[in-house]
Amino acid sequence: MPTFGNGRRVAIVAGLRTPFAKAGTVLKSMSAIELGRACVSELVERTNLDTAQVQAVVFGTVIPSVLAPNIAREVALMPIFPKGVQAYTVSRACASANQAITDAADQIALGHAEVIIAGGAESLSNVPILHSRGFSDVLMSANRAKSVPQKLRAFTRVRPRDLRPIAPAIAEPSTGETMGQSAEKMAKINHIPRDEQDQFALRSHRLAAAGTADGRLTAEIAPAYVSPRYETVMTADNGIREQTSYDQLAALKPVFDRAYGSVTAGNSSPLTDGGAAVLLMSDACARALGYAPLAYIRAYAYAALDPGEQLLQAPVLAAPVALRRAGLTLADMDLVEMHEAFAAQVLSNLAGFESRAWAERAGFSTPVGEVDRTRLNVMGGSIAIGHPFGATGARILTTLCNELRRRDGKFGLLTVCAAGGMGHAMVVERA
Ligand SMILES: CC(C)(COP(=O)(O)OP(=O)(O)OC[C@H]1O[C@@H](n2cnc3c(N)ncnc32)[C@H](O)[C@@H]1OP(=O)(O)O)[C@@H](O)C(=O)NCCC(=O)NCCS
Repeated sequence: MPTFGNGRRVAIVAGLRTPFAKAGTVLKSMSAIELGRACVSELVERTNLDTAQVQAVVFGTVIPSVLAPNIAREVALMPIFPKGVQAYTVSRACASANQAITDAADQIALGHAEVIIAGGAESLSNVPILHSRGFSDVLMSANRAKSVPQKLRAFTRVRPRDLRPIAPAIAEPSTGETMGQSAEKMAKINHIPRDEQDQFALRSHRLAAAGTADGRLTAEIAPAYVSPRYETVMTADNGIREQTSYDQLAALKPVFDRAYGSVTAGNSSPLTDGGAAVLLMSDACARALGYAPLAYIRAYAYAALDPGEQLLQAPVLAAPVALRRAGLTLADMDLVEMHEAFAAQVLSNLAGFESRAWAERAGFSTPVGEVDRTRLNVMGGSIAIGHPFGATGARILTTLCNELRRRDGKFGLLTVCAAGGMGHAMVVERA
């Protein structure tokens, strides 16, 4: 029994998300706060939760609003919650929702809370655009100036180059390498051919399309009423390409290494807007309130490696630790959900699971093993569904728990790679 050593089990009661939309499309007018509020309010509604029971909201986001950086508190300040629901925001790159979930789980396990909503949201359509250092200095001087002539004088220092806006890059601050370049590097180091990447991307779209058509994915989605006009209702992800083919994918040009590369728009996750959340409770509280938990958090782990090495390979270091903490092996896992940043990354991670050298780096004598492909991302993954950085972890956990239940499985493993060379793994046990 997963009890965190003190008899307290952390239950995943339910999870829900907004539809995921490619950045710049249907959800572009909604901020991350609105996306977070949309999924959390519907999660509360669908679970018939008495919000007086909620002790905290923990949320993840990767590119926060500079005007409202604590997105969790803005979500908790929705009128459906009492004002006393404390809330904080975490950041662990693409594993930010996972960090929110494990923080919440720790608080419940410690007995500091009984009911927490955890998740994340991201609007990559609304990234803050910054002024240059030079223009910021001018604005600060103008702001300090005591007279109108002094203010105007400050602006005479502006040079054309100062007016160039700065957008956040999806690049490592420590190395300057973008995620896509890192995926390219991993494809080369691990000898992942282009055709295998494209086949994997095709699989992601096919499985996600099937999960949407038969309602399994749709069941995890709260329709989004698109603010500010509320004239559009989005009910399904818009990145899933039901009609894509291997030939179409194979025809796409590499994006991050145009001459010799293999990573394309088709075998990468797209920039995406969306929010996702899960309702966590202590098992005892869930039962007392009349909820039947979906699953329990059995164990989790985080790991990191040098970002200049293989940026997205750390799930290979985290997974064996999570499995050991769970007292289980890969063979016990009925399902494996792996975040798909890039097909090259998933295939590199899978190869790493089979490698003795990677096992030894993680402190183990035997590799994690070969993941049975029929148990892997059975409803597709981030390549097709999309990847709102701060939200993905909550989407994956929800899918894993729901599908374990449908298949009458017992254990599931999830992994997420993250910028900074970090990785996360969690083992869940069906309730
Ligand atoms: C790869 C990336 C640069 C592509 O961006 P983009 O050019 O805006 O992508 P698009 O969706 O417009 O696709 C480009 C083209 O490929 C085509 N395409 C993409 N996926 C396809 C598929 N599965 N099948 C067929 N065609 C596809 C599109 O139709 C489009 O064609 P067009 O130019 O004729 O319209 C962007 O998605 C990206 O940066 N992804 C990585 C995000 C990242 O780093 N995440 C962090 C992970 S941890």
